[in-house]
Amino acid sequence: MPLIELDDIHKIYQLGQTEVAALCGVSLTVDGAEFVAVMGPSGSGKSTLMNTLGCLDRPTRGTYSLDGEEVSKMSANGRADLRNRKIGFVFQNFNLLARTSALENVELPLLYSRHVSPRQRRKRAKELLERVGLGDRMDHHPGQLSGGQQQRVAIARALVNEPAILMADEPTGNLDSRTSSEVMRLLCKLNDEGGITLVIVTHEQVVARHAKRILILRDGLVECDTSDFSAALHALHGPETVGYGGSPGACRLGGEVCLWGAFRGSQVGHSDRRKPRSSLVVDLSQQLFDLLTTPFAKAFGDRQR
Ligand SMILES: Nc1ncnc2c1ncn2[C@@H]1O[C@H](COP(=O)(O)OP(=O)(O)O)[C@@H](O)[C@H]1O
Ligand SMILES: [Mg+2]
Repeated sequence: MPLIELDDIHKIYQLGQTEVAALCGVSLTVDGAEFVAVMGPSGSGKSTLMNTLGCLDRPTRGTYSLDGEEVSKMSANGRADLRNRKIGFVFQNFNLLARTSALENVELPLLYSRHVSPRQRRKRAKELLERVGLGDRMDHHPGQLSGGQQQRVAIARALVNEPAILMADEPTGNLDSRTSSEVMRLLCKLNDEGGITLVIVTHEQVVARHAKRILILRDGLVECDTSDFSAALHALHGPETVGYGGSPGACRLGGEVCLWGAFRGSQVGHSDRRKPRSSLVVDLSQQLFDLLTTPFAKAFGDRQR
């Protein structure tokens, strides 16, 4: 049984007399231990989808079952209860309490739990801070921590209820690239070793690249659902702008080969997410180059000659 099952989800916001259709029939399933990145242009419905998945909001139409429980018919209280049991949230701006230590911030979600004693609460929070590499920062307040450390505290807090799913809307949006990759490494580890399901909204390719599956939303619909990073970028930007961080690369799209990047020397990387990036470096001879006849390759070919 899938962990998440959305069937024909519509979300219509009523703005005075006008209706805004934010989701227009989204159907998808997510299994336990998947790592899904959600991408798409601004206004495509990413946050609405996350709010729906996170049981924060109720769809206008369609059904949503989370771990076998039907969410769309639940009351607000029912949804809150389910959310607390199943989902941890990570936000772009960390959302930590300022005058509160890292340890207390992580304990917070358990504060009102009848099932967890204060001693267990503290023990669990400590363990989680150690797990995110902050064992030596437990007494620091958020203001005494770097952005990346604050986000790691927030991740520990999201995990304290032992949720099945971790949801994050732009978790690295406020971080520099080095710190961002540190946070992504942690999330990948939680997914790989802890088996936690990750659903992450991001507009950053370097973040989405870590995911095992990418959904591209457009106009409230899932336009592309793929485990092929290059195909996802293609759906997001169109073939002309497929690229990644300026590194040279190539990908196969519908039988055609696309190239991008600066072709210095005679080598070009082949970017297939299922193979390590460096394992398939081909010699870009003139002959091979002539074989690659997509408009994109031609554009680069013209520049090379
Ligand atoms: N509370 C709301 N009331 C009315 N319209 C909304 C509301 N929230 C989002 N929308 C509209 O729904 C569409 C999708 O928004 P959103 O899910 O925030 O997109 P994204 O996160 O991809 O930028 C947009 O057209 C947005 O203007
Ligand atoms: Mg958004």
